Amino acid sequence: MCFLTDMNKYIGIDLGTSSVKMLLVSADGEIIKSVTKEYPIFYPQSGWSEQNPEDWYNASIEGLKELICEVNKEDIKGISFGGQMHGLVILDDNDNVIRPAILWNDGRTQKQTDYLNESIGKDKLSSYTANIAFAGFTAPKILWVKENEPDNFNKICKIMLPKDYLAYKLTGSFATDYSDASGMLLLDVENRTWSKEMCRICGVDDKQLPKLYESYEKIGTLLPKIADELGLTLDVSVSIGAGDNAAAAVGTGTVNNGDCNISLGTSGTVFVSQDSFSVDSKNALHSFCHSNGMYHLMGCILSAASCNKWWVEDILGTSDFANEEKNLDKYLGQNNTYFLPYLMGERSPHNDVSARGAFIGMRPDTTREHMVLSVLEGVAFALRDCVEIAKSNGINIEASKICGGGGKSKIWRKIVANVLGVPVFRPQIEEGPAYGAAILAMVGCGEYVSVSEATSKLIKTKDVTNPEPQLVDKYNERYNAFKKLYPALKAVYKEI
Ligand code: XUL
Repeated sequence: MCFLTDMNKYIGIDLGTSSVKMLLVSADGEIIKSVTKEYPIFYPQSGWSEQNPEDWYNASIEGLKELICEVNKEDIKGISFGGQMHGLVILDDNDNVIRPAILWNDGRTQKQTDYLNESIGKDKLSSYTANIAFAGFTAPKILWVKENEPDNFNKICKIMLPKDYLAYKLTGSFATDYSDASGMLLLDVENRTWSKEMCRICGVDDKQLPKLYESYEKIGTLLPKIADELGLTLDVSVSIGAGDNAAAAVGTGTVNNGDCNISLGTSGTVFVSQDSFSVDSKNALHSFCHSNGMYHLMGCILSAASCNKWWVEDILGTSDFANEEKNLDKYLGQNNTYFLPYLMGERSPHNDVSARGAFIGMRPDTTREHMVLSVLEGVAFALRDCVEIAKSNGINIEASKICGGGGKSKIWRKIVANVLGVPVFRPQIEEGPAYGAAILAMVGCGEYVSVSEATSKLIKTKDVTNPEPQLVDKYNERYNAFKKLYPALKAVYKEI
């Protein structure tokens, strides 16, 4: 049990795809300091995406030292995590990383995904795990390693997710949480236990899998050598944390039944909090555990703010995003250029690793501004695809929170509000997953009795962007055109 004083401070670590973001937060929710450390991502073949777990660890240790260098170390009571989901990290019997981690947006597993969905069958998968196979999920990656790297497969002693690797290195505790484990396709989501059937299908023994916890639960304390290196006390409590989307939901206060959060990060997600377990009848949305002990449904598009970053930085050759966006307002709802944001293939709802980005509809009078706008709109339309699936399940999203780098753009929030036809609320603290992780650490230490008590006290709204009826109508028309584009291109994608 922690010794609680007014001075208590907590650390939230979000192990993202491009960087690790760390926040030092006081018990009353104020951000004291923030540190971000980047690491590389490798694309060894088209559609592959890998990172070195050692890079995550080194960046995190370096960042933690910087984060806490000016505070009284005794005040730091707890640490927790949010992490990029689905990544496969495998360790041998000496705890060495066997191969680079295969990430959530890696598309190499089409064959294994098809095997699971077609030969095992979607109905069986859904009854075992509440989900079908998507190429980015962990189970198809395990099958890929088994088939393509049998020597590596035979060495596997521990299978874990990205944030769990960091937690293991810091505490020595081999642990994961239900929200992140949900994305492995090895968890019986409804019953919060590993699925024996899925373990058998993947050739995995449950001894190779981490112990399961609720996200806010304490898994241990820092290893003495880590506490010593960081100058922290031996009783700093470590809670396992959550997948980044469930952590972001905590960080934005998306914890009550029907609450929605949209994340515009490297990926884009529509996250709907649910008090009870349910499965999307089409299995296009993921049915996962939430980090507050409940459940959620989620649609995930693989490229969101990453499309804008690619277009503005790599293609237009500037990092002045604000300048690119400053005149877009006058074209809202009237742009004839469309962009399909499938740079890394697509997860929800198409489940197609061959899909790719496309601009369509350019004319001699199309300008740079139309193209910039089409990228922002294309991402919003792809999110709407996910919202439409939620609607078809009887879920009526009446409003949404927003977080992630893209959520900081005023024009993008306006586009999202009008494409989805709902008010979009921006929380005062926009740090989504890292802030949610700090809150989970607080709950783990007993600073708050529950996640919902913590969020109701700590999360405040900064502003709201309301949809405008005329713009909503225009965007409805444009969405009707957008939704015909992927089906028209589907066969072409396979050829190219
Ligand atoms: C969710 C997903 C992504 C990653 C990004 O299913 O794959 O949002 O978690 O970090």
